[in-house]
Amino acid sequence: MIVGVPREIKPGEQRVALTPAGAHALAAAGHRVIFEADAGVGSGLRDQEYTAVGAEIGGVDDVWRRAEMILKVKEPVPAEYSRLRAGQVLFTYLHLAPAPQLTRALRDSDVIAVAYETVQRSDGSLPLLTPMSEVAGRLAVQEGAFYLGRAHGGRGILLGGVPGVPPGNVVVIGAGTVGLNAVRMAVGLGADVSILDVNPDRLRTVDDLYHGRVVTIMSNAFNLQAVVRRADLLIGAVLITGARAPVLVTAAMVETMKEGAVIVDVAVDQGGSVETIHPTTLLDPTYVVSGVLHYGVANMPALVPRTSTFALANATLPYVLQLAARGPRDAVRADPALARGVNVWRGRVIHPAVASSLGETPATLDAVA
Ligand SMILES: NC(=O)c1ccc[n+]([C@@H]2O[C@H](COP(=O)([O-])OP(=O)(O)OC[C@H]3O[C@@H](n4cnc5c(N)ncnc54)[C@H](O)[C@@H]3O)[C@@H](O)[C@H]2O)c1
Repeated sequence: MIVGVPREIKPGEQRVALTPAGAHALAAAGHRVIFEADAGVGSGLRDQEYTAVGAEIGGVDDVWRRAEMILKVKEPVPAEYSRLRAGQVLFTYLHLAPAPQLTRALRDSDVIAVAYETVQRSDGSLPLLTPMSEVAGRLAVQEGAFYLGRAHGGRGILLGGVPGVPPGNVVVIGAGTVGLNAVRMAVGLGADVSILDVNPDRLRTVDDLYHGRVVTIMSNAFNLQAVVRRADLLIGAVLITGARAPVLVTAAMVETMKEGAVIVDVAVDQGGSVETIHPTTLLDPTYVVSGVLHYGVANMPALVPRTSTFALANATLPYVLQLAARGPRDAVRADPALARGVNVWRGRVIHPAVASSLGETPATLDAVA
């Protein structure tokens, strides 16, 4: 198969969909890779690293015209719609439910659009979303520690403390992927860490992992009120799949927090779990409410594009290799997780939530593929 990797042109996007290791694996399996010149620059990857493993460097027109499968990170922007070709496979993050215009463009261009975020294993896990939650969870502590610095607006606290001075208090709400990765970093820094969840099994996992080093607390308004006022760093990491994040920390609770404490609400991309949070950008990440620094960056992995590129590509490559080896029809028949990733198949909308956003009935993959 001919696999094309265009440079991402969505503003601020620095990741690339394929690493040199991925290009090497595709070449070893007998496929051809056309990589757009400079597509890896934002992640510190040079064209020569791809040509060294057999990829061809091409212009943007070349990549889109010749590729049977396009690998991307973000959804196509309007300037790319006309480049989509009938029968081409497009494998990328799509987030189509709130984007009917893009869904129509994909349907009308007769492509096979497979979305990273809906590839789902039978246990419900989302293997191509997990790596970005891992990045965001770990980064939440790193960023929080930075903003606790006095010169950055924070309380002037070193999370690890020093002998004779107690460590900073970190409260993590939600013990899923983001939460567990945040805890790992906070423990590593030597902070005093608590985590809350509504699911006791998630708390059991933390307790087993840290043998009491991390305080686990059932999440409810009463307990939240008590822990929030002690926090130097509060991390929002909740998710109710497919729904807006629940608002757990009210504006009144934020008022009880210490002057110069920091809130990093990672769940801001789903509306946020703190009443006073709103989305911010990496160019202007924080603002202050009631003396508390709020960090609401909705695309945290973009701060570390190199790590994020490798983390994403590690997770996508096995699916890329399946699609290339078997072709899209046999690949989705062989793997139900990949089949759940199909959002649009040659003019027919397959994913139920995406179809309903257009007011249409979804087609079944069995009927069209
Ligand atoms: N800002 C960013 O850049 C960025 C990056 C990646 C992920 N995210 C977001 O981070 C959030 C968390 O993602 P995840 O992968 O960790 O999800 P996850 O499903 O792995 O974990 C969510 C956890 O929240 C818990 N939860 C639900 N309701 C709760 C409540 N009332 N109190 C306490 N806990 C509750 C669940 O039991 C679960 O353990 C999502 O909104 C995700 O979109 C943001």
